[in-house]
Amino acid sequence: MSEKTTHFGFQDVPESEKAGRVRGVFGSVASKYDVMNDAMSFGIHRLWKDAMMDWLAPRAGQRLLDVAGGTGDISFRFLKRAGSGHATVLDLTEPMLVEGRKRAEAAQMQDQLDWMVGDAMALPFADNSFDVYTISFGIRNVTRPQEALNEAFRVLRPGGRLMVLEFSQIPNDLMQWAYDLYSFNIIPRMGQMIAGDKDSYQYLVESIRKFPDQETFLEMVRAAGFENAKYRNLSLGIACLHSGWKI
Ligand SMILES: C[S@@+](CC[C@H](N)C(=O)[O-])C[C@H]1O[C@@H](n2cnc3c(N)ncnc32)[C@H](O)[C@@H]1O
Repeated sequence: MSEKTTHFGFQDVPESEKAGRVRGVFGSVASKYDVMNDAMSFGIHRLWKDAMMDWLAPRAGQRLLDVAGGTGDISFRFLKRAGSGHATVLDLTEPMLVEGRKRAEAAQMQDQLDWMVGDAMALPFADNSFDVYTISFGIRNVTRPQEALNEAFRVLRPGGRLMVLEFSQIPNDLMQWAYDLYSFNIIPRMGQMIAGDKDSYQYLVESIRKFPDQETFLEMVRAAGFENAKYRNLSLGIACLHSGWKI
């Protein structure tokens, strides 16, 4: 029997190959990842991440699991807002975590953070271990996103909160056209100039187009078992926050 395939950007690849390719992308751009985020979004990703924190409202002492946490952007914000607490940053790509650890040392926050290599679809944690689960610009890279959501539900304690930040779909054809023009023509070129890697940023823009729209993803969040699931569009749907509770 032939193996199931999935998308890697606009290419079809065997499911077993996707994680390795994704690791290749983020391993290649890790040292320039933070600079590129600011450049290609004109800094707007910071506003989206702040909006995520506004809705999440971190509280003192909470234990966060930040999956696909990369260089730790979400965890740093969470800990600063919470005042005290602990974050575990888990990511498939070690070089991203290495960059994050350097940031933690510079900010003297290493005691509040753990950095672990792992896969969102098979989390190395016991059931009911965390108060909050976040995944920011990560889930569209996961081979089977529904499995990642099921795992999020499993490791959250009852009363725990899921929040997903991801690129989404703009419900307006003209704006989508303008956005595509920018993302398909400019972002890969910026990737070449800043990170010396056009292909990785070509993958990034293609993967955005393959990700489910807001309503479809909301159903996936509910299917994992989350209650009171809702979403909020950011910048007219360029990005979107999905929230759910394990009751
Ligand atoms: C675009 S970065 C996001 C980093 C960070 N969360 C942020 O918002 O800036 C995507 C990250 O997802 C990670 N990733 C992709 N697939 C993953 C998986 N199956 N499990 C864990 N991490 C994954 C990549 O290694 C990469 O570091």
